[in-house]
Amino acid sequence: MNHMTAVNLRSAFGGEAMANMRYKIWSKKALEEGYKNIARLFEAISFAEEVHGSNHFKEFENVEGNYIVASEGGFGLTTTSENLQRAIDGENFEI
Ligand SMILES: [Fe+2]
Repeated sequence: MNHMTAVNLRSAFGGEAMANMRYKIWSKKALEEGYKNIARLFEAISFAEEVHGSNHFKEFENVEGNYIVASEGGFGLTTTSENLQRAIDGENFEI
């Protein structure tokens, strides 16, 4: 694996890991606000992000070491309505 691919893949892994947690947290928030179906949606997306991150991680089968990983990720726990917009914005990520 060339260096740039490894750096980008590690960053992607970091992004997927953060997305996994962010969607889980937003799912709980939606449930607290009484939005059961949105909570299920966030939980399902969280699982998808787990699969994405797991697939990235498996590509490092022959890469060892600890690395600082730079990944963009939104923070903050607001309302479910705002979390939905942030989810849309996050999935339309552009460099
Ligand atoms: Fe993903």
